[in-house]
Amino acid sequence: MQVYLNGTYVDESQAFVSIDDRGFLFADGVYEVVHIYSGRPFEWDRHMERLRRSLQAVGIGGVSMEELRQVRDQLIGENPAEEAALYLQITRGVQKRAHTPPAPGVLAPTVLMWVRAVDPIPRDVVEKGVSLITVADDRWAKVWVKTIGLLPNVLAKGKAAEAGVYDALFVRDGMVMEATSANVFRVADGIIQTAPVTNYILPGITRIAVIELARKKGYQVVEEPFTLDDLYQSQEVFLSGTLTEVLPVAAVDGRTISSGAGPVALDLLRLLHEHAHKR
Ligand SMILES: Cc1ncc(COP(=O)(O)O)c(C=O)c1O
Repeated sequence: MQVYLNGTYVDESQAFVSIDDRGFLFADGVYEVVHIYSGRPFEWDRHMERLRRSLQAVGIGGVSMEELRQVRDQLIGENPAEEAALYLQITRGVQKRAHTPPAPGVLAPTVLMWVRAVDPIPRDVVEKGVSLITVADDRWAKVWVKTIGLLPNVLAKGKAAEAGVYDALFVRDGMVMEATSANVFRVADGIIQTAPVTNYILPGITRIAVIELARKKGYQVVEEPFTLDDLYQSQEVFLSGTLTEVLPVAAVDGRTISSGAGPVALDLLRLLHEHAHKR
């Protein structure tokens, strides 16, 4: 498989980065994952807008959005798949190890992009609904920046795997934030609720698409904080994410939320698929 690395296309087996890359040494970089449906990138402009904000937040410059678009088209063309994931990572670049980041423009950023086929989450998993645990949210206070520094997320996902469940939800001061790589929604009294965009969640592209689709369909959606107790009392809980799409949740911390997927989650998943395929 051909990948793009720093201006050239190379076979993945020949794609290497330096031991002095600041991404490798300090997780000094940002990333995006875009879902490709039948060759069409889902919400590309929104992903690029979020990337721009992440790059700005950490002070990495020298990235051409037009070039990223061309690389995207080239890689999608070479990897025709019904469904694929596009991964894009940009680090500050290569420099002898030193904490101080060089002034913007001094280093050429390391730019990596690849497109790989992905299998959709099996329908029986969706219909059964997944189980989650909750963990204390000990991440930093700039969760909105899509940094490659994902160790807390990795460790939380590991705890979920140890517990034999699908994922973990981060809970901060009693409030439910999000999962390790997805946002979380609840349905109660017919109202769809998700945590508001603050420094403490990643503003998911799927999250905003789901909110818009739900409102268009006539659902009431509120972006308001909710507690873990609220979550336990929900009629439905579901996750949203680029590769997660809309994924119903049947149990949290061993407490049953609903037996199988809820109707609202299934309706929103259907609307998301319709939206993704008509673009
Ligand atoms: C922590 C976190 N929250 C939420 C999301 C969902 O965002 P998106 O819908 O843009 O994939 C992700 C995606 O990777 C994530 O890592």
